[in-house]
Amino acid sequence: SQRVFSGVQPTGNLHLGNYLGAIKRFVELQNGFDCIYCVVDLHAITVWQDPVELKRSIREVAAAFLAAGVDGSKHIVFNQSQVPQHAELAWVLNCVARLGWLNRMTQFKEKAGKDRENASVGLYAYPNLMAADILVYRATHVPVGEDQKQHLELARDIAQKFNNDFAASIAANGLAEKFFPQPEPLIAGPATRVMSLRDGAKKMSKSDPSDASRINLTDDADQIAAKIRKAKTDPLPLPESVEELKARPEADNLVGIYAALSDGDAASVLNAFGGAQFSAFKQALVDLTVSKLGPINAEMKRLVADPGHIDRVLGDGAARAEAIAAETMTHVKDIVGFVRR
Ligand code: TYM
Repeated sequence: SQRVFSGVQPTGNLHLGNYLGAIKRFVELQNGFDCIYCVVDLHAITVWQDPVELKRSIREVAAAFLAAGVDGSKHIVFNQSQVPQHAELAWVLNCVARLGWLNRMTQFKEKAGKDRENASVGLYAYPNLMAADILVYRATHVPVGEDQKQHLELARDIAQKFNNDFAASIAANGLAEKFFPQPEPLIAGPATRVMSLRDGAKKMSKSDPSDASRINLTDDADQIAAKIRKAKTDPLPLPESVEELKARPEADNLVGIYAALSDGDAASVLNAFGGAQFSAFKQALVDLTVSKLGPINAEMKRLVADPGHIDRVLGDGAARAEAIAAETMTHVKDIVGFVRR
């Protein structure tokens, strides 16, 4: 069977990159798959989080999923710490993954920065927990932005090594040879890597100190308009062809955003705006962005005002997620050779 899993960290400032690269795709995939969408709070604490702020942020990400159109009754929406099997499987996978594999992870190097000795052990082991998130549901498809590609390749390597290392035991327990399926990354569409509005060479990110670099899902219409009008561009009009666009990172980014929000592609956007001045294109982009994000923003506000409702959705989702995860863990314990209760 085909199962989608993906996660978003509750670390504040959900932005247009998170929406276009991930959450909007989550919504689209609901028609073809059984979907599990997780607020990954265990991942968030790999760097210090203020406890009060973390709690608020967990509910806000859940609200963003629901406001964007994720159906928490047909599919599963929950927060990671409510399902203990994530951490449990992560430990087993810590013992499968190799130091050399983790040493290659570019995101750890970026996040740890120069003071690597002072990074948490959790930040280093983070990709193993991410592999556990996916594999504990034996998910087959994982929609993410481009920046998660390396982590997904690692998850595939871990799945394969587990299946190989324990091949005899998997067979002895009467389980399918490919106990863990190879999770397939779904990284597609015009906005797999949304860039900063201030610098076409940097990705749009929660941690950029400049708030003008990103459009937050909580921004109102005036903030969205101001940020898009101020977005960095080159002085030329919009190009006529996608080839020319590729050489102009800031233009490419804004066209990609327009394409994703309008469910088109770069070619269809250039068809409409090729040769236009940026002032005109930016106004159209403001209107489109406000019309798409406005309703999501309003619904998020409505939802976070009722944390009791969100907590019920999360609790109900966690119970259903745990039923799946517990079955996998039972098998994993048999495969590894633990004595079960
Ligand atoms: P996170 O919380 O940093 O980001 C959530 C999702 O948003 C995507 N994204 C972007 N897409 C396009 N352009 C951007 N500028 C941009 N910035 C972020 C991310 O690729 C991601 O899909 N490690 C993950 C969370 C995670 C996870 C998982 C994902 C934990 N376990 C299992 C998939 C499966 C992360 O930190 O995402």
